[in-house]
Amino acid sequence: MRIVALSDLHLGDASRARVAAIAQAALGADADVLVLAGDCAANGPERIPEALALLSSFPGPRLLVPGNHDLWQREPPFDTWHIYDEVIPAIAAEHGFHCLDREPLIFGDMAFVGCMGWYDYSFRQTRAPAPDITVTPIDVARDEEGQVAFSAVPGATAGQWEDLVAADYAPGGLIWQTEGAPHAAMWNDAAHLDWGRSDPEMARHFAGRLREHLDYAAGRTARIAAVTHFVPFAELADYHLEDPKRAFARAYLGSPLLGEALLATQGVELVIYGHRHRQEVREVRGLVTADAGVAELDAGPLLLTLPD
Ligand SMILES: [Fe+2]
Repeated sequence: MRIVALSDLHLGDASRARVAAIAQAALGADADVLVLAGDCAANGPERIPEALALLSSFPGPRLLVPGNHDLWQREPPFDTWHIYDEVIPAIAAEHGFHCLDREPLIFGDMAFVGCMGWYDYSFRQTRAPAPDITVTPIDVARDEEGQVAFSAVPGATAGQWEDLVAADYAPGGLIWQTEGAPHAAMWNDAAHLDWGRSDPEMARHFAGRLREHLDYAAGRTARIAAVTHFVPFAELADYHLEDPKRAFARAYLGSPLLGEALLATQGVELVIYGHRHRQEVREVRGLVTADAGVAELDAGPLLLTLPD
């Protein structure tokens, strides 16, 4: 079985021509199944129909999970659950895509199982990105006019990068200083979506959903291919970054709970994921993992072949 996989298309005004070329390459890959592993759109669901339309002539099953960018809204009130549960599945159905977050799809002897997943700061970079860097967590939210606003986290003071703990990533921002003026890093989800629950709770929620879908599939087929948007294993997130902004963003890469669910299920052969923007196929703990990201300028669709 040949699978053509894509993630992180990030369709927006600036990327239209490039995304169209990547979609053409995917259509020309002569694959049996098409997988979109999240972040079709750069800035929310409005552009997802255009992204899916570019791929809707693919003749085999067309599968997707959303990514965080697909959920974004410009300003509050944020309606993240509605976008995830209703808006994106409706767009998918309209374009002949199967939303794996709703239910698995069995094709031949293979079950395709997936859900977006979420992050719980487990993959944060604990080593300082630069020497002599001091950091202060800062809260990112929207003010009454809908503008992004930074505000102090009660009790937070400047400290060492190595002393940051998981909870320091919950407010979504970081002031950092090496020499000269301080800089701010922010995680954009903090200003574009709201689940009404903490990120670690959401990571548990989605890992539970993935586990349910895996159990369902394992009772019906011996072979499973899984899809998530967020990174499922620590091994895939353990690179060191020297740019403080990018090092900060590592905390939001994914959750090991996704990987635990995958390892607890018999028959998982392949895990397709995205979000890192580093296309790569690598074996992790006996599973073939494939980052299908096409965000890097020289990346195209990823073609994966599973034995019959
Ligand atoms: Fe993402």
